[in-house]
Amino acid sequence: MKEQDMEFFNDFVDVWDDGAERDGPFITLGVEALLTGYYGNLLDAPPPFPVREGARVLDLGCGWGRVLKPVMDRGGRAVGLDISGSMLKSAREHLGKHGHQPPLLRGDATRTPFRDGSFDQIYSLLVLQHLSKENGLEVFKEVRRLLAEGGEAHIRVPSRFAPENLLFAFLQFVSIHVFRVKDPIRMRFYRIGEIRRACRGLFSECTVTAHEFRPPWNFHTRRTWHYIIIPRFLHAPLRRISDRIEKAANSWFPFLKHFGVTLMVRLVR
Ligand SMILES: C[S@@+](CC[C@H](N)C(=O)[O-])C[C@H]1O[C@@H](n2cnc3c(N)ncnc32)[C@H](O)[C@@H]1O
Repeated sequence: MKEQDMEFFNDFVDVWDDGAERDGPFITLGVEALLTGYYGNLLDAPPPFPVREGARVLDLGCGWGRVLKPVMDRGGRAVGLDISGSMLKSAREHLGKHGHQPPLLRGDATRTPFRDGSFDQIYSLLVLQHLSKENGLEVFKEVRRLLAEGGEAHIRVPSRFAPENLLFAFLQFVSIHVFRVKDPIRMRFYRIGEIRRACRGLFSECTVTAHEFRPPWNFHTRRTWHYIIIPRFLHAPLRRISDRIEKAANSWFPFLKHFGVTLMVRLVR
Protein backbone atom coordinates (compact mmCIF):
# COMPACT_ATOMS: atom_id res chain seq x y z
CA MET A 1 0.00 0.00 0.00
CA LYS A 2 1.13 3.51 -0.66
CA GLU A 3 1.33 4.94 2.86
CA GLN A 4 3.66 7.44 4.42
CA ASP A 5 4.82 5.37 7.37
CA MET A 6 5.28 1.88 8.76
CA GLU A 7 3.46 2.82 11.97
CA PHE A 8 0.25 3.38 10.02
CA PHE A 9 0.67 0.07 8.20
CA ASN A 10 1.24 -1.86 11.45
CA ASP A 11 -1.78 -0.20 13.12
CA PHE A 12 -3.89 -1.05 10.05
CA VAL A 13 -2.94 -4.73 10.11
CA ASP A 14 -3.32 -4.90 13.92
CA VAL A 15 -6.98 -3.84 13.70
CA TRP A 16 -7.74 -6.78 11.37
CA ASP A 17 -5.62 -9.23 13.36
CA ASP A 18 -7.32 -8.24 16.64
CA GLY A 19 -10.75 -8.31 15.01
CA ALA A 20 -10.17 -11.78 13.58
CA GLU A 21 -9.11 -13.09 16.97
CA ARG A 22 -12.07 -11.54 18.81
CA ASP A 23 -14.94 -11.96 16.31
CA GLY A 24 -14.24 -12.38 12.58
CA PRO A 25 -17.87 -12.13 11.41
CA PHE A 26 -18.45 -8.93 13.38
CA ILE A 27 -15.27 -7.11 12.27
CA THR A 28 -15.90 -8.03 8.61
CA LEU A 29 -19.66 -7.45 8.43
CA GLY A 30 -20.51 -5.29 11.45
CA VAL A 31 -24.13 -5.35 12.58
CA GLU A 32 -25.06 -6.91 9.25
CA ALA A 33 -23.88 -10.23 10.67
CA LEU A 34 -26.60 -9.97 13.33
CA LEU A 35 -29.55 -8.55 11.37
CA THR A 36 -30.84 -11.82 9.98
CA GLY A 37 -34.41 -10.46 9.60
CA TYR A 38 -33.09 -8.06 6.97
CA TYR A 39 -30.11 -9.85 5.42
CA GLY A 40 -30.88 -13.52 5.98
CA ASN A 41 -27.87 -15.57 7.06
CA LEU A 42 -24.98 -13.63 5.51
CA LEU A 43 -22.50 -16.00 7.08
CA ASP A 44 -23.44 -18.67 4.54
CA ALA A 45 -24.99 -16.68 1.70
CA PRO A 46 -24.42 -17.46 -1.98
CA PRO A 47 -21.76 -15.27 -3.62
CA PRO A 48 -23.25 -12.01 -4.96
CA PHE A 49 -22.10 -12.88 -8.51
CA PRO A 50 -22.25 -16.00 -10.69
CA VAL A 51 -19.33 -18.43 -10.34
CA ARG A 52 -18.18 -20.37 -13.39
CA GLU A 53 -17.32 -23.99 -12.60
CA GLY A 54 -13.60 -24.59 -12.94
CA ALA A 55 -12.81 -20.86 -13.20
CA ARG A 56 -9.60 -19.61 -11.62
CA VAL A 57 -10.94 -17.24 -8.94
CA LEU A 58 -9.16 -14.74 -6.68
CA ASP A 59 -10.68 -13.25 -3.50
CA LEU A 60 -8.82 -10.01 -2.71
CA GLY A 61 -9.21 -9.36 1.03
CA CYS A 62 -10.79 -12.74 1.73
CA GLY A 63 -11.08 -12.24 5.52
CA TRP A 64 -12.11 -15.44 7.34
CA GLY A 65 -13.27 -17.09 4.10
CA ARG A 66 -16.98 -16.15 4.25
CA VAL A 67 -17.27 -15.91 0.44
CA LEU A 68 -14.53 -18.37 -0.50
CA LYS A 69 -16.64 -21.23 0.87
CA PRO A 70 -19.72 -20.74 -1.37
CA VAL A 71 -17.43 -19.94 -4.32
CA MET A 72 -15.63 -23.25 -3.88
CA ASP A 73 -18.92 -25.08 -3.23
CA ARG A 74 -19.88 -23.97 -6.76
CA GLY A 75 -16.74 -25.32 -8.36
CA GLY A 76 -14.53 -22.19 -8.41
CA ARG A 77 -10.80 -22.98 -8.17
CA ALA A 78 -10.19 -20.26 -5.64
CA VAL A 79 -7.21 -18.49 -4.09
CA GLY A 80 -7.57 -16.13 -1.13
CA LEU A 81 -5.34 -13.18 -0.31
CA ASP A 82 -5.50 -11.06 2.82
CA ILE A 83 -3.25 -8.62 4.62
CA SER A 84 -4.03 -10.13 8.04
CA GLY A 85 -2.35 -13.35 9.17
CA SER A 86 -5.06 -13.94 11.81
CA MET A 87 -7.83 -13.61 9.22
CA LEU A 88 -6.08 -16.21 7.08
CA LYS A 89 -5.76 -18.54 10.07
CA SER A 90 -9.54 -18.25 10.65
CA ALA A 91 -10.15 -18.81 6.93
CA ARG A 92 -8.01 -21.96 6.98
CA GLU A 93 -10.03 -23.32 9.91
CA HIS A 94 -13.43 -22.32 8.49
CA LEU A 95 -12.75 -23.70 5.01
CA GLY A 96 -11.03 -26.82 6.35
CA LYS A 97 -14.21 -27.66 8.30
CA HIS A 98 -16.08 -27.67 4.98
CA GLY A 99 -13.52 -29.77 3.14
CA HIS A 100 -11.82 -26.92 1.22
CA GLN A 101 -8.09 -26.22 1.25
CA PRO A 102 -7.49 -23.33 -1.16
CA PRO A 103 -4.13 -21.55 -1.34
CA LEU A 104 -4.35 -18.67 1.17
CA LEU A 105 -1.68 -16.00 0.92
CA ARG A 106 -0.75 -13.10 3.12
CA GLY A 107 -0.36 -10.05 0.91
CA ASP A 108 -1.52 -6.63 -0.17
CA ALA A 109 -4.28 -6.27 -2.76
CA THR A 110 -2.50 -3.27 -4.31
CA ARG A 111 0.61 -5.38 -5.12
CA THR A 112 0.04 -9.10 -5.40
CA PRO A 113 2.60 -11.80 -6.26
CA PHE A 114 0.55 -13.37 -9.11
CA ARG A 115 1.49 -13.34 -12.81
CA ASP A 116 -0.38 -11.21 -15.37
CA GLY A 117 -3.66 -12.78 -16.56
CA SER A 118 -3.69 -15.49 -13.83
CA PHE A 119 -7.44 -15.37 -13.06
CA ASP A 120 -10.78 -15.72 -14.85
CA GLN A 121 -12.71 -14.13 -11.99
CA ILE A 122 -11.65 -11.74 -9.25
CA TYR A 123 -13.74 -10.26 -6.46
CA SER A 124 -13.12 -7.93 -3.58
CA LEU A 125 -15.97 -7.29 -1.17
CA LEU A 126 -15.93 -4.61 1.56
CA VAL A 127 -12.17 -4.03 1.25
CA LEU A 128 -11.61 -0.88 -0.85
CA GLN A 129 -13.67 1.10 1.63
CA HIS A 130 -10.86 0.75 4.18
CA LEU A 131 -8.10 1.92 1.81
CA SER A 132 -7.23 5.44 0.70
CA LYS A 133 -8.69 6.40 -2.69
CA GLU A 134 -5.14 6.32 -4.06
CA ASN A 135 -4.74 2.71 -2.94
CA GLY A 136 -8.23 1.90 -4.22
CA LEU A 137 -7.09 2.97 -7.68
CA GLU A 138 -4.03 0.72 -7.32
CA VAL A 139 -6.38 -2.23 -6.62
CA PHE A 140 -8.36 -1.51 -9.81
CA LYS A 141 -5.05 -1.48 -11.76
CA GLU A 142 -3.97 -4.72 -10.11
CA VAL A 143 -7.31 -6.36 -10.96
CA ARG A 144 -6.83 -5.37 -14.60
CA ARG A 145 -3.30 -6.86 -14.59
CA LEU A 146 -4.39 -10.14 -13.00
CA LEU A 147 -7.49 -10.78 -15.12
CA ALA A 148 -7.20 -12.98 -18.17
CA GLU A 149 -8.57 -11.56 -21.45
CA GLY A 150 -12.39 -11.56 -21.15
CA GLY A 151 -12.17 -12.21 -17.37
CA GLU A 152 -14.64 -10.60 -14.99
CA ALA A 153 -14.29 -8.83 -11.64
CA HIS A 154 -16.78 -7.76 -8.95
CA ILE A 155 -15.81 -5.05 -6.48
CA ARG A 156 -18.21 -3.95 -3.75
CA VAL A 157 -17.88 -0.49 -2.16
CA PRO A 158 -20.13 1.74 -0.04
CA SER A 159 -21.73 4.63 -1.90
CA ARG A 160 -21.36 8.31 -1.09
CA PHE A 161 -24.97 9.51 -0.99
CA ALA A 162 -27.00 6.81 0.83
CA PRO A 163 -28.56 8.38 3.97
CA GLU A 164 -26.93 5.71 6.15
CA ASN A 165 -23.50 6.48 4.70
CA LEU A 166 -23.94 10.26 4.95
CA LEU A 167 -24.67 9.88 8.66
CA PHE A 168 -21.75 7.48 9.03
CA ALA A 169 -19.38 9.87 7.24
CA PHE A 170 -20.47 12.78 9.45
CA LEU A 171 -20.00 10.81 12.70
CA GLN A 172 -16.65 9.51 11.48
CA PHE A 173 -15.52 13.04 10.62
CA VAL A 174 -16.44 14.26 14.13
CA SER A 175 -14.74 11.28 15.73
CA ILE A 176 -11.47 11.74 13.82
CA HIS A 177 -11.27 15.53 13.59
CA VAL A 178 -12.99 16.65 16.81
CA PHE A 179 -12.28 13.81 19.24
CA ARG A 180 -8.96 12.88 17.55
CA VAL A 181 -9.74 9.16 17.52
CA LYS A 182 -7.15 7.14 15.61
CA ASP A 183 -8.97 5.00 13.06
CA PRO A 184 -6.63 3.31 10.56
CA ILE A 185 -9.51 1.40 8.87
CA ARG A 186 -11.83 4.40 8.50
CA MET A 187 -14.39 4.16 5.73
CA ARG A 188 -14.20 5.78 2.29
CA PHE A 189 -17.35 6.27 0.23
CA TYR A 190 -17.51 6.15 -3.55
CA ARG A 191 -19.51 8.09 -6.14
CA ILE A 192 -20.59 6.25 -9.27
CA GLY A 193 -18.89 8.85 -11.49
CA GLU A 194 -15.51 8.49 -9.80
CA ILE A 195 -15.61 4.70 -10.17
CA ARG A 196 -16.35 5.05 -13.87
CA ARG A 197 -13.50 7.54 -14.28
CA ALA A 198 -11.07 5.28 -12.39
CA CYS A 199 -11.96 2.28 -14.58
CA ARG A 200 -12.06 4.11 -17.91
CA GLY A 201 -9.26 2.84 -20.13
CA LEU A 202 -8.55 -0.12 -17.83
CA PHE A 203 -11.52 -2.34 -18.66
CA SER A 204 -13.67 -3.00 -21.71
CA GLU A 205 -16.87 -2.93 -19.59
CA CYS A 206 -17.71 -1.22 -16.31
CA THR A 207 -21.24 -1.63 -14.91
CA VAL A 208 -22.30 -0.27 -11.53
CA THR A 209 -25.42 -1.55 -9.74
CA ALA A 210 -26.76 -0.24 -6.43
CA HIS A 211 -28.03 -2.32 -3.51
CA GLU A 212 -29.74 -1.94 -0.14
CA PHE A 213 -31.98 1.08 0.07
CA ARG A 214 -32.74 1.63 3.72
CA PRO A 215 -32.75 4.31 6.40
CA PRO A 216 -29.78 4.41 8.85
CA TRP A 217 -29.65 1.38 11.16
CA ASN A 218 -27.66 2.91 13.96
CA PHE A 219 -25.42 5.77 15.08
CA HIS A 220 -22.01 4.53 14.14
CA THR A 221 -19.79 5.58 17.03
CA ARG A 222 -17.61 3.33 19.16
CA ARG A 223 -20.17 3.30 21.96
CA THR A 224 -23.41 3.10 19.99
CA TRP A 225 -22.96 1.06 16.85
CA HIS A 226 -24.42 -2.11 18.37
CA TYR A 227 -27.75 -0.38 19.04
CA ILE A 228 -30.19 -0.73 16.18
CA ILE A 229 -32.66 2.14 16.07
CA ILE A 230 -35.14 0.49 13.69
CA PRO A 231 -37.50 -1.91 15.52
CA ARG A 232 -37.02 -5.54 14.60
CA PHE A 233 -40.59 -6.03 13.29
CA LEU A 234 -39.84 -3.51 10.52
CA HIS A 235 -36.75 -5.30 9.19
CA ALA A 236 -38.52 -7.78 6.89
CA PRO A 237 -40.94 -5.17 5.39
CA LEU A 238 -38.01 -2.77 4.89
CA ARG A 239 -36.16 -5.47 3.00
CA ARG A 240 -39.12 -5.92 0.66
CA ILE A 241 -39.29 -2.16 0.01
CA SER A 242 -35.53 -2.06 -0.53
CA ASP A 243 -35.72 -4.91 -3.04
CA ARG A 244 -38.36 -3.01 -5.03
CA ILE A 245 -36.36 0.23 -5.09
CA GLU A 246 -33.24 -1.76 -6.02
CA LYS A 247 -35.03 -3.27 -8.99
CA ALA A 248 -36.17 0.15 -10.22
CA ALA A 249 -32.73 1.73 -9.65
CA ASN A 250 -30.94 -0.97 -11.61
CA SER A 251 -33.40 -0.88 -14.53
CA TRP A 252 -35.65 2.04 -15.46
CA PHE A 253 -34.77 4.72 -12.84
CA PRO A 254 -30.94 4.79 -12.64
CA PHE A 255 -30.80 8.12 -10.76
CA LEU A 256 -31.85 6.15 -7.65
CA LYS A 257 -28.57 4.24 -7.78
CA HIS A 258 -26.85 7.11 -6.01
CA PHE A 259 -28.81 6.34 -2.83
CA GLY A 260 -28.11 2.62 -2.45
CA VAL A 261 -25.92 1.77 0.54
CA THR A 262 -23.53 -0.38 -1.49
CA LEU A 263 -22.40 -0.36 -5.11
CA MET A 264 -21.34 -3.47 -7.00
CA VAL A 265 -18.87 -2.72 -9.77
CA ARG A 266 -18.71 -5.36 -12.49
CA LEU A 267 -15.64 -5.12 -14.70
CA VAL A 268 -14.64 -7.04 -17.79
CA ARG A 269 -11.11 -7.02 -19.13
C1 LIG B 1 -14.43 -5.84 5.96
S1 LIG B 1 -13.38 -7.21 5.76
C2 LIG B 1 -14.15 -8.08 4.42
C3 LIG B 1 -13.74 -9.53 4.34
C4 LIG B 1 -14.39 -10.35 3.22
N1 LIG B 1 -14.11 -9.76 1.92
C5 LIG B 1 -15.87 -10.49 3.44
O1 LIG B 1 -16.64 -9.86 2.69
O2 LIG B 1 -16.27 -11.22 4.35
C6 LIG B 1 -11.93 -6.50 4.98
C7 LIG B 1 -10.80 -7.51 4.79
O3 LIG B 1 -9.84 -6.95 3.91
C8 LIG B 1 -8.54 -7.20 4.40
N2 LIG B 1 -7.66 -6.14 3.85
C9 LIG B 1 -7.64 -4.84 4.17
N3 LIG B 1 -6.73 -4.19 3.42
C10 LIG B 1 -6.17 -5.10 2.61
C11 LIG B 1 -5.17 -5.05 1.59
N4 LIG B 1 -4.54 -3.89 1.27
N5 LIG B 1 -4.83 -6.19 0.96
C12 LIG B 1 -5.43 -7.37 1.27
N6 LIG B 1 -6.38 -7.47 2.23
C13 LIG B 1 -6.77 -6.36 2.88
C14 LIG B 1 -8.70 -7.18 5.91
O4 LIG B 1 -7.66 -7.87 6.57
C15 LIG B 1 -10.06 -7.86 6.07
O5 LIG B 1 -9.92 -9.26 6.16
